[in-house]
Order: sequence, then structure tokens, then C-alpha cells
Amino acid sequence: MKHKLNLIFDLPQTGADNKRFLKKCDVVKPNFQNYYGENTLRDQDLDIPDLSEIQVLRHYTNMSSRNFGVENGPYPLGSCTMKYNPKINENVAGLPGFQNTHPLQPVETVQGNLALLYNLEQKLNAIFGMDYFTFQPSAGAHGELTGIMMIKAYHEANGNFERKVMLIPDSAHGTNPASAAMAEFEIREIKSNEHGLVDVDDLISKLDDQVAGIMLTNPNTLGLFEKEVAEMTDLVHRAGGLCYYDGANANAILMQTRPGDMGFDVVHLNVHKTFGTPHGGGGPGAGPVGIKKILEPFLPKPVIVKNNNTEPNYDLDYDRPQSIGKVRAFIGSFAVYVKTYAYILAYGAEGLAEVSEAAVANANYLLERVRNSYHVPYSEPAMHEFIITSKMLKEQYGVTTTDVAKRLIDKGFHPPTVYFPLIVPEAMMVEPTDTETLEGLEGLANAFNEIAEEAAEYSQLLKDAPHDMPITRPDETKAARKPVLKV
Ligand SMILES: Cc1ncc(COP(=O)(O)O)c(C=O)c1O
Repeated sequence: MKHKLNLIFDLPQTGADNKRFLKKCDVVKPNFQNYYGENTLRDQDLDIPDLSEIQVLRHYTNMSSRNFGVENGPYPLGSCTMKYNPKINENVAGLPGFQNTHPLQPVETVQGNLALLYNLEQKLNAIFGMDYFTFQPSAGAHGELTGIMMIKAYHEANGNFERKVMLIPDSAHGTNPASAAMAEFEIREIKSNEHGLVDVDDLISKLDDQVAGIMLTNPNTLGLFEKEVAEMTDLVHRAGGLCYYDGANANAILMQTRPGDMGFDVVHLNVHKTFGTPHGGGGPGAGPVGIKKILEPFLPKPVIVKNNNTEPNYDLDYDRPQSIGKVRAFIGSFAVYVKTYAYILAYGAEGLAEVSEAAVANANYLLERVRNSYHVPYSEPAMHEFIITSKMLKEQYGVTTTDVAKRLIDKGFHPPTVYFPLIVPEAMMVEPTDTETLEGLEGLANAFNEIAEEAAEYSQLLKDAPHDMPITRPDETKAARKPVLKV
């Protein structure tokens, strides 16, 4: 017999129904009519599927097995840092003292939460060489927008309204120009040189008194360290601009170098990459933004302040006339920051240095294992991720990067990021991360190498891949814009 799932929603329609309903439902016995008033009672059945419990369970259990996560196997999605997130962070974020607070509570009652954020700010300042952090932005791209809005406010406060140009390398992540455009900057592109690094001469030729700043990623999106970064930030400063550091790749530099020391004035972090908090199906993440002192007046408000001698010790300062305002509700994705703080405390300074060392060592190990099967476009040493391409396979056998990526699924691996950065044809951006095991790296290397061999003899096998998946090659743009979520 079917158990109707909607029994509990099967609310009465009339007073007589109400009595019958209450009889039927022994457990739930509030007086709905008195409580909600007669007019609020539903007079039609809810339009929800009439399914048995086992049907629903099977549906969700089968759906979950179609998902692939880092807990299933290696997930080398370049630039996304899909590393393992220690479960203890979830436990800490779930402690009742954190979980049961509400952002509208008076500050005296959330002193512990504010202390955590304040202490996290001190730690991030130390790790990244900054003076202040704001926790409001919800993700990396949101952090970019917040950071360059502060750059804009700084120039306007100095009367430099003509500084409307943001310099962005051609290798940058697409969110950089998008954020700059949203903040109403004009984008001036800087070329990369044959080594995959910013062409400093091209940068010099693009500097003038309209330049508001530069947005740089280091290591860049090709996985290469910009060796001339200090010279570049110096050049931009001399031209009157400020320097923005896209910290999405911070996993590679933790405790090795600091954006503040490279000359940057603003940095955003993707804590859902660097500090082991999950990329939860598009959210919630967090993109805290660090700044140097010159930008302090423009921080989003409120700002968390510490009073050593007065109660309450931690307070929220809203009296900030030059602030760019609020960029989201309240003070940020609090639970995500609890996980960030737990991660930083658990690893400590030495542990964080080991994270970046492992991230770089793993990427280089994997690169060496696949180097003979794929084209490696840049000779500079790789940092935490590397680019290989299917150039040779395409020229010889007509096998593309899409084919290689799809065939990796057959072999039990998540594909790398493909066709990005845009400046490298047939690019595959591979980031094994610091938490990948030797077994996982070997498995990935073998799979990449086997696919290159298969291309020579069985190219059709690759072109038809993946073979055992419910969906094979959807139109990805359409799938993102018009998802059909029903089976
Ligand atoms: C280099 C770089 N910058 C910025 C972003 C944007 O970050 P988010 O996805 O958190 O908005 C990403 C995301 O992958 C990135 O790789």
C-alpha cells in the first residue's frame, strides 16, 4: 500500500473537514482553524507528486550516485582547487553556539562570533601581508567587485575621476574583466609573452594617467609564477594606479610569499578553494577581501572593531562616511568562516606551508608523468596547476580536448578544466591539489597516458566517450542556461 507523503499537508478545507482531519492525525493536533484563521486554510489539494516513500528514496539515492566529488576520486579541475575538506571543520561550524546565532541578535549576545571573525582577520592579515579584511563578499568574483569598488572610491576621494582604466592580462580569469566592467571601468588588456607571463613592455606601453589599477593573478591562470611581479606593481604605483591581487590561486603560495609583500593593495581570497571549505553546489562560499591601510576608509560597513577597555569588547562600526556601503546582508557567510578559522588553526603556520609545498609538488609530479603524451606549451616550472594540450592528438588523429576529457570520465576521473585559459588552443588545466594521494596521481597519470595511446588506434572510442553515463555530451551552454532537472 502506498503511504501518502502529503498526509501532513492534507489540511482541512471546512470546519467539518477540520474535525475529520484532527481525528485522522493523532500526532499533530494543533487547532489549525483557531490558530491561523479560517480564511487562511487551503481549499485545494497541494500540487505535489503522489509517490510512495520508497520511490522517493530510490530517486534521491540514484541521483546521488550520479554525482562525482572529491570523495569519489581525483578531481583535477584546474583553477577550482577541488581539494579535500576535513570533516572536522563541519563539526566545528555545527557547534550549537555558532549554529544557533542569528545575525540580527544584539552585539552583546554574539561576542564569540565577532571574536572569531576578528581573530580570523588578524590571521589572514599575517598570512597575506594585509592590514584589514572584510568578510562580506560571498565568493571570489564578488570579492573582485568589492575590491575594485574600493579602488574606485579611493581615486574619486582624491579627485582623480579620470582614472577609469583597469589593466588586465589576457590570461586572466573571465571574472576579472567582468567585475571591472560592472564597476564601470574600461578594460585595457595586457599581452602575455611566449613564456606565459605578463609582457612587461606591453604593460609599460599601456600605463598613463587614466589608469586606476591592475588586476593580476599570481601564480597566473597558466599555473606560472609571475617572476616580475614586484616590478609590475611598482610600475603601476608610479603611474598612480593601485594593484589588485586575484587570490584564487593562493593555495600555491601559502606561507611561501605574500601578496602584500609583492606590492598589492587589495587581495581577494576564495576560502572555498584555499582553506578547505566546500564549493557547495554554487554556494555558500566566501570571498574575503584584504586591503592595505590606504583603502581602510572605503571598507564595506559595518567593520568589526575591538575595544580593549569597554564592554562589549567587540562591536560593529557603522559610522564610516567614506565606506562603499554594504555589499551583502549582515557581515558575511559566517559558518564558512568558522570552517576557515578551524582549518587555519588545525594546520598552523608549518602545516599551511606544507599545503602549498604539496600542491606544487603534486602538480609537478603529474606533469612529469604525462609530459611525453601531451603538448606542454610553456617551459616555465609549474606551480600548483599546469597546462597541457591535445595539439598533437588533434593534428595526428583528430582527437580533441573534449574527447580526452570525456574519456577520463570512463576511467573514473573528473576531467580537468578544458579550453581555459582562452589564449591556449585545446587547453587542459590540471590541478591535482595538495590533498591528492600518490595512488590518485598515479591513476590519473596512467589514465591520461592510456588515452593518448588509445587515440592512435581507437580514436572513435574517444569521440563517443563517455560510454556508461546517463548523459554523454550535452550542449553545455544550454545545460547551464536552461537546465532540465526532471528525468
Ligand atoms: C583565477 C580566478 N579568479 C576568480 C575566480 C572567481 O571565483 P568564484 O568562483 O569564487 O567567484 C576564479 C574561480 O574559479 C578563479 O579561478
